[in-house]
Amino acid sequence: MSQRHILVTAALPYANGPLHLGHMLEWIQTDIWVKFQRHVGNNCIFVGATDAHGTPTMLAAEKLNISPKVLVENSAEQHKKVLMSYKISLDNYVTTDCMENHEITKLIFERLLDKNLVIEKVVDQAFDDKKQMFLPDRFVKGTCPRCKSMHQNGDSCDACGATYSPLELLDPKSTLSNSTPSIKKSNHLFFKLNAFKAYLQEWVNNNLNENLKNKLFEWFSDELQDWTISRDEPYFGIEIPGYSGKYFYVWFDATIGYMASFKNYCDKEGISFDDYWSKDSKYEVYHFIGKDITYFHCLFWPAVLEGADFRTPTSVFAHGFVTVNGEKMSKSKGTFILAEEFSQNFEPDILRYYYASKLSDTIEDIDLNYSDLVNKINSDLVGKLINLASRCSGFISKLNNKKLSNEIYNTDIITHFQSHSSELISDYQERKYSRIIRKIMALCDEANKYIDHEKPWLLAKSEDQKDRAIQVCSDGIQLFRILIIFLKPIIPDIAKKSELFLNTESLSWNDHKKLINGEYIQDFLPILSRIDLEQLNTLKGN
Ligand code: 2FM
Ligand code: ZN
Repeated sequence: MSQRHILVTAALPYANGPLHLGHMLEWIQTDIWVKFQRHVGNNCIFVGATDAHGTPTMLAAEKLNISPKVLVENSAEQHKKVLMSYKISLDNYVTTDCMENHEITKLIFERLLDKNLVIEKVVDQAFDDKKQMFLPDRFVKGTCPRCKSMHQNGDSCDACGATYSPLELLDPKSTLSNSTPSIKKSNHLFFKLNAFKAYLQEWVNNNLNENLKNKLFEWFSDELQDWTISRDEPYFGIEIPGYSGKYFYVWFDATIGYMASFKNYCDKEGISFDDYWSKDSKYEVYHFIGKDITYFHCLFWPAVLEGADFRTPTSVFAHGFVTVNGEKMSKSKGTFILAEEFSQNFEPDILRYYYASKLSDTIEDIDLNYSDLVNKINSDLVGKLINLASRCSGFISKLNNKKLSNEIYNTDIITHFQSHSSELISDYQERKYSRIIRKIMALCDEANKYIDHEKPWLLAKSEDQKDRAIQVCSDGIQLFRILIIFLKPIIPDIAKKSELFLNTESLSWNDHKKLINGEYIQDFLPILSRIDLEQLNTLKGN
């Protein structure tokens, strides 16, 4: 098969907050896919960035008495550090305030303007006279115009589900100053999304999986509304050329940030940006996202790209939300766990393995259940997988000076393990990670049963059966090696320690076809320790 060229992104985290375990679901899901693509020999580039712009970043910086630019740089450093600790294999990381994003955003805007895809309209908006600024919807609270519940958000009611404009709220208040907002007119720029309705219907049909299609087809039952892409100053963002005092709405330049990070990488590495982004590109582009931002990625984004004469994504993959012990992550319950706190207390592979064991190609929510996590790590990973290596290596060390047998004893079981390669490749490709884990754990059980059945501890006792004990345990090590190769994209640290134990260079997918007869292994060192519930309960959360 010829080598594929693939560009992959995960959603860009906002600069005004740290990464938590909810974010990590997506980074881990994406990274497993990226590592898998590289493992099977494809060229896969993975870029990211911190999402810099918008009112929340501006206000957060104001509170800290620093400039938004400094805030953004600091959080990007912090985001990057945490992602590295989970072995997320990004090729490049910038912020959406980088020069490339300013340039590409303006270029895209100008192309849309030239094609009359942007129009101006005067709109009424909530204005905070004390703060002297227009208020984004979520900075206005008040009483729901429909069910009259108090303290509802500016765009929708939690009590009855009504959606409305903040101007319709009864008794509206600015969350910034607690004053009653006035209504002010302002001129805004709108992207004519509906001009792309037919194009989008076809794109959705050809490029998305069933889960997402259904959600999108609901939106197609109506006209698609024009999208406001401008915001008034004060705003931390990219100023709109020719419209002084107006800035691009953060969501307009955020997705463009994917291209900007990639452009920044291309210029450093001498890669052709156009090979990936020109309209006739033969290369693949995928975005991993949470289901809540589907509208931005599956309607606005392909429409903007199409309008600006760039290629559109090959596909967008969405996942559900993370709950902890069955409930929404909550600061008061101590389940709003920061990614950094978790990785400082546990091996990040533990979370990678656990999330993989729950992930598929659907948008179902995923529960991080502490007892289930403990169980999966201790009984699956330590008890089945690592134990296979540890129990076999002891005999090889003692009986044969760490040298594996020159021949396989049971070729059938080895061939049987190897024969899973193509179905596991499809599972990875389709992001059905939980199936992979299930299949591999079933193989672990088979391997352990094989060892149990052959009883090397008894064979080792008699001189004339010793060779058979060595052969059986060598088979066990060969099986362990195949399983590690299959699991490597999911548990990179464990794979690396296993490679050291197996005395081998970095393994790639096709190495599962080779055997390591007669080779030497290293002494077995604990690759992963058991965890307990107590330890998890000490996580404080933010
Ligand atoms: O929802 C969010 O967290 C956004 N910061 C995601 C942006 S993804 C892309 F568009 F940049
Ligand atoms: Zn209501």
